[in-house]
Amino acid sequence: MERQRSFSSTSTRFLLFAFTISSSLIFLVSLFTWVLKSNPSIHQDTHFQFNYSVFNLGGHKPITVESLSSFSSNSSAKHSKDTHFLKSENESGSGNFSVFKQIQIQENLGEVLEDGDSETESEEAPAPSMEDIEVETNETTEGDEGKWVYDESYPLYTNGSCPFIDEGFSCDTNGRRDRNYMKWKWQPQDCYFPRFNAAKMLDLIRGKRLVFVGDSINRNQWESMLCMLMAAVKDPKKVYETHGRRITKEKGNYSFKFVDHKCTVEYYVSHFLVHESKARIGQKRRPTLRINAIDHGSSRWKGADILVFNTAHWWSHYKTKAGINYYQEGNQVHPKLDVSVAFRKALMTWAAWVDRHINPGRTQVFFRNSAPSHFRGGQWNSGGHCMETTWPLNDTSGMEYPEKNRIVEDVILQMKTPVTLLNVTGLSAYRIDGHPSIYGKKPGTRYSSSIQDCSHWCLPGVPDTWNEILFFHFQLKQKSKYR
Ligand SMILES: *[C@@H]1O[C@H](CO)[C@@H](O)[C@H](O)[C@H]1NC(C)=O
Ligand SMILES: *[C@@H]1O[C@H](CO)[C@@H](O)[C@H](O)[C@H]1NC(C)=O
Ligand SMILES: *[C@@H]1O[C@H](CO)[C@@H](O)[C@H](O)[C@H]1NC(C)=O
Ligand SMILES: *[C@@H]1O[C@H](CO)[C@@H](O)[C@H](O)[C@H]1NC(C)=O
Ligand SMILES: *[C@@H]1O[C@H](CO)[C@@H](O)[C@H](O)[C@H]1NC(C)=O
Ligand SMILES: *[C@@H]1O[C@H](CO)[C@@H](O)[C@H](O)[C@H]1NC(C)=O
Ligand SMILES: *[C@@H]1O[C@H](CO)[C@@H](O)[C@H](O)[C@H]1NC(C)=O
Ligand SMILES: *[C@@H]1O[C@H](CO)[C@@H](O)[C@H](O)[C@H]1NC(C)=O
Ligand SMILES: *[C@@H]1O[C@H](CO)[C@@H](O)[C@H](O)[C@H]1NC(C)=O
Repeated sequence: MERQRSFSSTSTRFLLFAFTISSSLIFLVSLFTWVLKSNPSIHQDTHFQFNYSVFNLGGHKPITVESLSSFSSNSSAKHSKDTHFLKSENESGSGNFSVFKQIQIQENLGEVLEDGDSETESEEAPAPSMEDIEVETNETTEGDEGKWVYDESYPLYTNGSCPFIDEGFSCDTNGRRDRNYMKWKWQPQDCYFPRFNAAKMLDLIRGKRLVFVGDSINRNQWESMLCMLMAAVKDPKKVYETHGRRITKEKGNYSFKFVDHKCTVEYYVSHFLVHESKARIGQKRRPTLRINAIDHGSSRWKGADILVFNTAHWWSHYKTKAGINYYQEGNQVHPKLDVSVAFRKALMTWAAWVDRHINPGRTQVFFRNSAPSHFRGGQWNSGGHCMETTWPLNDTSGMEYPEKNRIVEDVILQMKTPVTLLNVTGLSAYRIDGHPSIYGKKPGTRYSSSIQDCSHWCLPGVPDTWNEILFFHFQLKQKSKYR
């Protein structure tokens, strides 16, 4: 195997994708005052059914992409930077999904693996000393562009070295035999991108709370973070869930304590960041989404030192009841509301909460934007698949930058709290090879081969890179402190 094998940027230079930006503009004027109403009832949603929109890579049409959940309807965001992306063929949203296919998939998340496997040695290579590394600090030029480079020294952990990968993401354990998908390193075009250093990271979060809040893709990233940190933990018994909880798809609150570093790495499920509720509509009490009220779990997020948010998937036509009698503001349930409008309002609610409750002197806030899914050849139940792909895409041209990302960017710019965007969409778009496909379940408990998970990510895998980006930002922040 060649050590450094670059595969991208063959044909179209102008379509190389992003890695991350730091959008930390401070606005002094807060435009809105939001009344955060509370409602004691919490809608416990035990169904994990999504309708995903997808990449349909079949045929020779240009590939088009939109955010996972977006059923993209009326664009309210301006497509100002669209030179890099082709537009969706038809954005009416009510139209013909011959390119976008809507997907519904059952989240197939099992219980955490309990025991480490002593046979499986960690393949980790020694990390370079961070002291020697020049970090590019011109954040305005920080790369939207880059490529995946094959690197034998990856992955940073294995299913044997990390006891926290749950069944849904543990492709190796579930029988996936190709291993290249674990061995790609993201190389931004314009700057050096340091390898994750677990010891360094643990030092950076010593005595702190690192908190992930969002949907199951954020759980994906959080598990990756736990695993990457374990590489620097000498005694695995000194890392435990503070309530003794095992990771499952049901329980949404986890706090793992790293005893020696007196820090916690936590995850709180919040599908929408705003409050899932119920309201009487006609005779019945029906589920609603209170887009002007923050998720009731927010009390747990307060006091964190680092917060990493996301939301995207659940804003689907299906999960949001097509916007009909679903979105609620105060006592009013909108008979119908467009998903982009609702998404923006919800994010404004989240932004107002952050601006009110987060002290930017203490807490660093991140928002990770959407991670694309890659179904091809059909829908989840009609043969939509990604299983045969063991190599990243060479070209992501034609993929549209998701409208929800633009809304996120818009909202962040209006906040007075600096929020760093983890811009993972572009780099993840290449990684059709990184999904669990049929390996999100143990052999024997698998869905029929016509049902594949092309939305979540195998661990080790792509979310490790997202965490390397997070690490990169911590380092920047740290360096600027001592300047
Ligand atoms: C989009 O598709 C719908 C339904 O197929 C069609 O009525 C509409 O004219 C199309 N719009 C554009 C801009 O092509
Ligand atoms: C969708 O597109 C296909 C192929 O272009 C066409 O055969 C079909 O009639 C269209 N359906 C609708 C509802 O427009
Ligand atoms: C930072 O980036 C901007 C925009 O590309 C550029 O004009 C400026 O010269 C750069 N500054 C440094 C110190 O590299
Ligand atoms: C890790 O995956 C390998 C297959 O590559 C499997 O043999 C092993 O049992 C797995 N380890 C654990 C702890 O599940
Ligand atoms: C998670 O925390 C929220 C907020 O405190 C709470 O309402 C919810 O019941 C908790 N869920 C679980 C499963 O512990
Ligand atoms: C979502 O998927 C379900 C099941 O396939 C389907 O019944 C529903 O109509 C879909 N939602 C939309 C908006 O098409
Ligand atoms: C979305 O667009 C459709 C048709 O273009 C229009 O009828 C509808 O009112 C729009 N919805 C919103 C919320 O703008
Ligand atoms: C991508 O590029 C590599 C190396 O140039 C090549 O081997 C591979 O076939 C290409 N894959 C596709 C799908 O074009
Ligand atoms: C995020 O990356 C995409 C390319 O993948 C780029 O088009 C977009 O402008 C980036 N967002 C920001 C805020 O820089």
